[in-house]
Amino acid sequence: MDVIEIDGSDRELFERYHRLMDAVQAADSEFPTMPGLEETWVWFTARLRADRVWGLAAVDGDTWLGAAWLQESLLENTDILQVDIQVDPAYRRRGVGTRLLRAVEDVAREHDRTVLQSEVVAPYDERTTTHSPGTAFAERHGFVRKHLELHQVMEFPLPDAELDRIAAEIAPKHAGYRIVQWYDACPDEWIVQIGELWNLMFTDAPRGDLEGEPILWTPERMREREARHRDQNRFRSTTAAVAPDGTLAAFTEMSGSRDTPGVLSQAPTLVRSEHRGHRLGMAVKIVNLRALQALVDTKAVLHTWNAPENAPMIAVNDRLGFRPVENNYEYQRRL
Ligand SMILES: CC(C)(COP(=O)(O)OP(=O)(O)OC[C@H]1O[C@@H](n2cnc3c(N)ncnc32)[C@H](O)[C@@H]1OP(=O)(O)O)[C@@H](O)C(=O)NCCC(=O)NCCS
Repeated sequence: MDVIEIDGSDRELFERYHRLMDAVQAADSEFPTMPGLEETWVWFTARLRADRVWGLAAVDGDTWLGAAWLQESLLENTDILQVDIQVDPAYRRRGVGTRLLRAVEDVAREHDRTVLQSEVVAPYDERTTTHSPGTAFAERHGFVRKHLELHQVMEFPLPDAELDRIAAEIAPKHAGYRIVQWYDACPDEWIVQIGELWNLMFTDAPRGDLEGEPILWTPERMREREARHRDQNRFRSTTAAVAPDGTLAAFTEMSGSRDTPGVLSQAPTLVRSEHRGHRLGMAVKIVNLRALQALVDTKAVLHTWNAPENAPMIAVNDRLGFRPVENNYEYQRRL
């Protein structure tokens, strides 16, 4: 068995890599969220200041056994390497995953990364901790569970009548706020404040004991992210609530890719602490759901990930009809 690097310089190898990652995730999960081929190609070939994505594949002659997705941040968290190892179910329990992990450790040492982090999927059960081949493998190799995010899904479209009912119920609570919505690029008027709200995600959203430093969302970095989304054929809707003094008090973002129209993602939702209690989280989500639904004419599933202890966010999602489908455990290991 050999391990080869997949870095976007060879399209044929890349396509084979993507096919394998995609097929293994589809075999393991009822709700896979692997990005499409072209979207992933942009991840692999873009030269960005902020991060780098590439892969490894375990091959035996012409047979591909498994692969790893690697991601490193270049501006902060320069001690961390993110990894996701996937082995074809037909070749499991033969040491393929372990061989890939050894190669990942070599990469980490070459890149001066001393912390490995990995998101591992296991079944959902609200009463108990759950396990999967991935959690058994991670624990066997000394990774420690640091955090849990519930993967929740909701089928599109939502009935308008239900959105109307909730909107009417909460309207009196946020009467003083103006709601603004935009597609794709953020208007210049809001770019600094939206970055500030993104920065608050690090302190305000639970992240367990996971190590890491905050990401600094400058306007330049926000624009870089938008440019990548454009290159990836992604579409996005953002809705924000503006307080009477002009402060952006809350925002939510949802997006999808024209490559994989059935998979939509809920990116962050955040209400500034001094503006909580006005049902602004629900208010921006409702407007944003309508805006996103106007773009999506196929059956689609909206995915979101939240810590179970994030009660206010879970309550909003429950009311909108999201249901939990998987546990995503964040594992970490120091080299
Ligand atoms: C997790 C995964 C990568 C393991 O790949 P693999 O090639 O089967 O792993 P290995 O053969 O190297 O297993 C090494 C050890 O991990 C543990 N392990 C792996 N799969 C296990 C399972 N299903 N049940 C219990 N222990 C398991 C065992 O201790 C195993 O050693 P053993 O076979 O001698 O008992 C594979 O099951 C997979 O692709 N799962 C879906 C993706 C995923 O969860 N990835 C997260 C990992 S970062």
